[in-house]
Amino acid sequence: MPDIFFPSDAIKNQAHITEDEYNRLYAESLGDPEAFWDRVARTELEWFSPWEMVLDWQYPQYKWFVGGKLNITHNCLDRHVNGINKYKKAFIHIDEEGVETSVTYMELLERVNRCANALRSLGVAKGDRVVLYMPLVIEQVVVMLACARIGAVHSVVFAGLSDKALRERIVDSEAKVVITANWTKRRGKKIDLKGVVGRATEGLDTVQSIVVLVRDGDACELHTKEVNFDDIVAKQSAVCVPVPMDSEDPLFVLYTSGSTGKPKGIVHTTGGYSVYTHYTTKIVFDLKDNDTYWCTADPGWITGHSYVVYGPLSIGATSLLVEGAPDYPKPDRWWEIIAKYHVNIFYTSPTAIRLLRKHGEQYVSPHDLSSLRVLGTVGEPISEEVWGWFYERIGKGRCVLIDTWWQTETGGHMIVSLPSLPQKPGIAGRPFFGIEADVVDVQGTRLRDGEKGLLVIRKPWPSALRTCWNDEERFEQYWSEIKGVYCAGDLAIRDSDGYIKIIGRSDDVINISGHRIGTAEAESAIGTHPAVAEVAVIAKSHEIKGQAIKAFVVLKSGHSESDQLRNEIKLQVKSEIGSYAVPEEVVFVPTLPKTRSGKIMRRVLRAQESGEDVGDLSTIED
Ligand code: PRX
Repeated sequence: MPDIFFPSDAIKNQAHITEDEYNRLYAESLGDPEAFWDRVARTELEWFSPWEMVLDWQYPQYKWFVGGKLNITHNCLDRHVNGINKYKKAFIHIDEEGVETSVTYMELLERVNRCANALRSLGVAKGDRVVLYMPLVIEQVVVMLACARIGAVHSVVFAGLSDKALRERIVDSEAKVVITANWTKRRGKKIDLKGVVGRATEGLDTVQSIVVLVRDGDACELHTKEVNFDDIVAKQSAVCVPVPMDSEDPLFVLYTSGSTGKPKGIVHTTGGYSVYTHYTTKIVFDLKDNDTYWCTADPGWITGHSYVVYGPLSIGATSLLVEGAPDYPKPDRWWEIIAKYHVNIFYTSPTAIRLLRKHGEQYVSPHDLSSLRVLGTVGEPISEEVWGWFYERIGKGRCVLIDTWWQTETGGHMIVSLPSLPQKPGIAGRPFFGIEADVVDVQGTRLRDGEKGLLVIRKPWPSALRTCWNDEERFEQYWSEIKGVYCAGDLAIRDSDGYIKIIGRSDDVINISGHRIGTAEAESAIGTHPAVAEVAVIAKSHEIKGQAIKAFVVLKSGHSESDQLRNEIKLQVKSEIGSYAVPEEVVFVPTLPKTRSGKIMRRVLRAQESGEDVGDLSTIED
């Protein structure tokens, strides 16, 4: 396969930014980032009042568009309803059975307003936290926007996390209200979300109300604190004036895993996030408001926040919301949807592509995928082989295939392959405007092209995380690990054209199907099993998920290894965290390799797993 692909004239001719413009604007954006972002913010969004200062950087704190007032929902909804997109579809929801429901921009605004008024009737005010534990339905987007409309801070928890993981997030964010649904479906099986929320909130006085979306008019018994979503929303006025938010008022908290301790609540604020997600959606996907766009992520993760909800709505696009698994009830479900809805821009994960590729060619070929123009991937490295399959079999060699590297913390795309630029399979691409990305050693010294090192960003960008909820110290670590720069926690290599290849995490974070899990988190979940004395987990490579967990367990005396125990340990992780973190493999060992001071040497386990040299063992205890 060639190591470089050039976009067709058709793609280049309609791209928002040409290659020459990229080079010029990128230089401009680094030379004078404030002038660059000032112009973007003024021309792309509507503000209630302008800012006095574009960037106030007092290391390690930074503020963007200081003093500016806006509401993200005004830009995502009112602006379109006041313009030509009023009756245009904002979302088309497709459930597992293929049943379709849609909502126009005007209808969405009305539903958001009613929901915002309903939240107010429950006592939710600006700054209060609302936790969502919902399926991928239009109401999930409605609730997120309703929070933003009144300045409440949403914290979406992926509805696949366990009751314990949900409780941890509700407690940490001190949420006043939790919103859920009676069920979601996964592979035809109904999952009782309300039951999970019930267990997660048991005895929590901070939670005043639980709002339950009762789907399909099912009978649903409501307990103390529980209210019916439709009942409470239907009573409300369809008018709700958006609260003028300060640029730096928090918009949401989203929990993600780090290498140590409990998940951290990444805080994003209103102004910089609005500007950056709008602009990256427009430029990176080359999204026009007549496009049909489909990002397959769930709003339970950052990709769903930025590129299902806020970015595409800000542009005024029509997006698909598809509930359920990629290959259920049939392996060509996604290709059928692309053909039926004439999807132009399709953004997904390498895991999904690996899964669908494995089902085989015969599921792709019957479908007319000619509407596609831009394909994108996110969340994990994509191998050249998988890139090639996606490009040839789905894009038919005609579409542009862009990779996008970014993180929960970055809020938006950081390293990308813009549609009009040459694409290098397996290489994330070049930094977006204003992003001064570099590859350095542990001291922060810039490495030469071709050398592997730590990926850092030298200056704050508009949608950078502002803090970690209740944990400023953890925030500061991002900017102090290598003093003065943002350390991403990834290993990377820069080539002589300035393209950056992401190798993987440099820390103790495992990436399973594009979802982060800290080794410490997984180990502490396994450690709660009464038979476990000690445990160490490492990542092993996995054909579909990219990485999976392999756990080495030392049992307490009196317990002996068995398949039943192995399954119990797996179930323990499911109940502490969620299914996605369940170890692929559990091996019982008599001891773990440790240093003389008692620290587990995971690198020895990793080297053994990959068949590499275990390196210096002089500090090993035994
Ligand atoms: O290791 C990188 C990997 O995912 C991490 C961020 O995970 P999360 O915060 O959950 O956000 C995922 C979606 C934005 C990164 O530190 N990662 C993300 N995108 C890529 C990637 N690795 C390689 N290539 C990518 N395109």
